[in-house]
Amino acid sequence: MTYRRIGLVSIAVLIALVIIAFALIWRPELTATAEGAEPAYGKDEIARGYALAQLGNCESCHTAEDGAAYAGGRPLDTPFGTIFAVNITPDRETGIGEWSPEAFTRAMRKGVDREGAHLYPAFPYTSFTKIDDGDISALYAYLRTVPAVENEAPENALPFPFNIRALMAGWNLLFLDAGPVKAVSRESDEWNTGRYLVEGVTHCGACHTPRNALGAEKSSDSLAGAEIDGWYAPPLAGDGARAWNKPQLAAYLSAGFSRDHGAAAGPMGETVTNLSKVAPADVTAIATYVASLTDDTSPAFAAIDNGVPDDLAATHALWVGACASCHEAADGRANPSYGVPLSVGFALRGDKPLNAARTIVGGIDAYRDRGGPYMPAFGGTLTAEQITDLTQYVRARFSDGAAWEGVGDTVEQALSEQNEGDGQ
Ligand code: HEC
Ligand code: HEC
Ligand code: HEC
Repeated sequence: MTYRRIGLVSIAVLIALVIIAFALIWRPELTATAEGAEPAYGKDEIARGYALAQLGNCESCHTAEDGAAYAGGRPLDTPFGTIFAVNITPDRETGIGEWSPEAFTRAMRKGVDREGAHLYPAFPYTSFTKIDDGDISALYAYLRTVPAVENEAPENALPFPFNIRALMAGWNLLFLDAGPVKAVSRESDEWNTGRYLVEGVTHCGACHTPRNALGAEKSSDSLAGAEIDGWYAPPLAGDGARAWNKPQLAAYLSAGFSRDHGAAAGPMGETVTNLSKVAPADVTAIATYVASLTDDTSPAFAAIDNGVPDDLAATHALWVGACASCHEAADGRANPSYGVPLSVGFALRGDKPLNAARTIVGGIDAYRDRGGPYMPAFGGTLTAEQITDLTQYVRARFSDGAAWEGVGDTVEQALSEQNEGDGQ
């Protein structure tokens, strides 16, 4: 081949690559809807959309602290930087008022906005892609009914190269499995409904499934337990999962408490608050599916009390004053009707002190106005050192695990987030 030919071939290859890259990345802008051209949506469709929005946690994630509902601005900390949830009210300038149903469906299924820009998977479209057409329409119909609010979310704080949205095209090629889930015919309708909700709109895996280095959920480790926002979301499937049966899960998911397993704290409290607002049949279906993922025969955790740890004898006085009235009630159950022996919950069993320390710092407050389990936040009344000592105390006294490392750092981190106002 002559140099001239090689040159021509290289140019042709280069052009082909550019075209391929462009085809991969480029998504068309979809036409804005005409103002005032909204069709009327049926009452049932809007009601279904409301329930789906609860199941999908759309409102909490898209509402800033003290901000207007769905108007965006809540910061989400990811390992790559901070991403802000945007305004999804029907405001035409700053929300999604100009979005057609097709544009909304493309965002939910493919993670692409109306103008054709790629969205980040902090917006859980990798799960929402599993929602069927009817339910996506219902969500759209419901979102048209929330009050339009003018509010521009702050700019994301993402360093180079993560600030290049086009990179998500490659990410999607690798990790996005687009399209609704298919029913498994040998399983019951209830099980299939549960799986549809868990893998789709409720995106349980966004917290409970470990992620790879590029931030994608590892499909081979689905619901195998993962760290999220300084908490540990325990395994719901596989070896490490606790035995949960359907009634226990239904109680935990709808009321935040199971008499056999304890209470839901931290980010799980938000999920439970959402689930408390939907039809019990949806929660039962989720419970049916999740119960099928664990090995029913594994025993529940046994109650353990090793007595007051020698090296923490001084902390015992603090425990008696601040904690024992609830955690050492006569029948071993906390807080007259709610609470399990501390050793029976998950928090003291983990490899890390995350959930125990964060529960002591932030308390359990999600169910208070519904008369559910309640624990005061000690982040404002005890010092970092006292909370650190108490965390070691409960670990030593109510579990068989080795003393935790890094408790002080975990407590400091939880306290600083609480002071910023965005912790639990
Ligand atoms: C875990 C937080 C979270 C949850 C839950 C969530 N979103 Fe979002 N959503 C985001 C973030 C963050 C963005 C912006 C992503 C970006 O900038 O690339 C977003 C973007 C969007 C967009 C694109 C808007 C635009 O202007 O580009 C739509 C539409 C949307 N979300 C709808 C929903 C719906 C419907 C639900 C509930 C079914 C939902 N979201 C639940 C975090 C969330
Ligand atoms: C925003 C993150 C998040 C989402 C979404 C989420 N979870 Fe959780 N989940 C957690 C955290 C964190 C814990 C630990 C709570 C604690 O220590 O009290 C938890 C705990 C649990 C537990 C208790 C496990 C045990 O053995 O103690 C169950 C069961 C559970 N979640 C089920 C679900 C299901 C089902 C869904 C979807 C409907 C879901 N979670 C969605 C974060 C989440
Ligand atoms: C008003 C009653 C009350 C007080 C006071 C209280 N707790 Fe709790 N605590 C609860 C309830 C209720 C739960 C949730 C149910 C459960 O797991 O027993 C809980 C849960 C916990 C958990 C998480 C258990 C798990 O596995 O999820 C820890 C750790 C904990 N408490 C430690 C403490 C410590 C340390 C103190 C004292 C500084 C304290 N609590 C004071 C009521 C209380």
